Amino acid sequence: MINDLWYKNAVIYSLNVGTFMDSNGDGIGDFVGLTRRLDYLHGIGIDAVWLQPFQPSPFRDDGYDVVDHYGVDPRHGSLGDFVEFTHAAKSRGIRVLIDLVVNHTSDEHPWFQSARRDPDSPYRDWYVWSEKKPKNANEGMVFPGVQETTWTWDDRAGAYYFHRFYEFQPDLNTSNPRVQAEILKIMGFWLQLGVSGFRMDAVPFIIGTKGPDVVKPVEQFDMLRTFREFIQWRQGDAVMLAEANILPEDDLDYFGTDGDRSHMMFNFQVNQNLFYALASAETKPLVQALKATKARPASGQWGQFLRNHDELDLGRLTEEQRNRVFAAFGPEEHMQLYHRGIRRRLAPMLGGDRRRLELAYSLMFTLPGTPVLRYGDEIGMGDDLSLPERNCARTPMQWSTEPQGGFTKGDKPVLPVVTGGPWGFETINVAAQRRDPNSLLNWTERMIRARHEAPEIGWGDYALVATRDPGVIALRYDWRGNSVLVVHNLHDAPREVRLRAGTPEGDRLIDLLGDGHSRAETDGRHRLVLEPYGYRWFRVGGLDYILNRQEI
Ligand code: NOJ
Ligand code: CA
Repeated sequence: MINDLWYKNAVIYSLNVGTFMDSNGDGIGDFVGLTRRLDYLHGIGIDAVWLQPFQPSPFRDDGYDVVDHYGVDPRHGSLGDFVEFTHAAKSRGIRVLIDLVVNHTSDEHPWFQSARRDPDSPYRDWYVWSEKKPKNANEGMVFPGVQETTWTWDDRAGAYYFHRFYEFQPDLNTSNPRVQAEILKIMGFWLQLGVSGFRMDAVPFIIGTKGPDVVKPVEQFDMLRTFREFIQWRQGDAVMLAEANILPEDDLDYFGTDGDRSHMMFNFQVNQNLFYALASAETKPLVQALKATKARPASGQWGQFLRNHDELDLGRLTEEQRNRVFAAFGPEEHMQLYHRGIRRRLAPMLGGDRRRLELAYSLMFTLPGTPVLRYGDEIGMGDDLSLPERNCARTPMQWSTEPQGGFTKGDKPVLPVVTGGPWGFETINVAAQRRDPNSLLNWTERMIRARHEAPEIGWGDYALVATRDPGVIALRYDWRGNSVLVVHNLHDAPREVRLRAGTPEGDRLIDLLGDGHSRAETDGRHRLVLEPYGYRWFRVGGLDYILNRQEI
């Protein structure tokens, strides 16, 4: 398959158009505003943005309830504004990925309206119906505690319809070839308008069989191959980044053993165990998660992240582990969500402790894969727990000390700007951090530069390096004759470790972030002293690194 592997050594930044920058004072972020902020994004050094849904929508699930897959919601601008934006991004070398929400539509979508109105509608079979209430109607809810069922009665249709998510998000019958053809058409449309791929929402549910008699959905993996072929044959740099919170044993089914399904997937397994490691200073489960998710085809890539726009889902940890993370990062009930996760942003979870924030980010930047940042995390934004469900972590970007944090000139932002206290825009904002060389913003920028200069991490294979300390994790990446060694101390106390770099050149380590170079002692081991939550990135061997580096 023809395939440009740009995503292997990239840094992705995710944002919501509606809360990033408002250009016309109506309180809602828009494409004109976002376009004006592209130089900011370019300055941080990111390679691609992932935009959350911006299509016409009643916004009952923050846009994940689409009513027209071929448009831009007028609140965010027009298709013309969108194309201006992709053009402006392209001229700065920034690729654009967009959310593709095709597991379900809004119940206001014309397809659903037609389907429910008329049993003979050509769209009837685009959704999933049952005349009787299915036995498992009270199972499989994605939002337990808020969502009560997965099958809802519709008077107009005279039938129950299936919805994996909220009741206003009827599932598309994705096994229907006509629906599949429409999905391809939607992808083709946005590719033509300048995007380089899709963050594919809810992939296991898209490809799973659906219906009143389905007890355990069976995944139809061929669909992933069809999607990949389509986008890649149309455009060689187009990628599919799958949202699939699955078990490691299923990873290769999603990537395709031959690399013919999803290009990228978020590593939920590592994400949850990473938070456990941060909470407990015990790295063993993280190491296990890394090992379990190690295998991937050559063109496949993990997306590594800390927080996203949803809750931090801890559902794959043991109950004991989950309780430990709750106790450390979300002890109060209102900080938790759906009986499985924490809805706070990263900085408040870590108590605003700069050392811990840097440790968390440094880990994310150096885990095997491509880092995916979330807007606002580069300045350590906080949350607003008075907002319902996941909205608490979706407040507007804090640009400056201007009213509304500089997000809007109006006085009615779509969600309230965090104001006052340690997380308020008066304290945490881009303008102030831009001026301060030691700010988190400038630190993040330096880390992104360093990450780009260590392509071994994105491209290479890694080996775990023994540290003999359960709270200190060391990984060495090798690629094309070059190696990078990264060491992280998860303890809140200093630690001394002794380790072997494990390559013939490994008697010299060059510190990539500071001047803590190291020469091995006579026994061939390095003695490293790490401060509490300390981290190091080393190039193994000499300074003249990347001797064999060649663009791919
Ligand atoms: C996953 C998205 O990340 C989430 O925000 C959304 O509610 C569901 N999919 C439904 O589309
Ligand atoms: Ca606006």
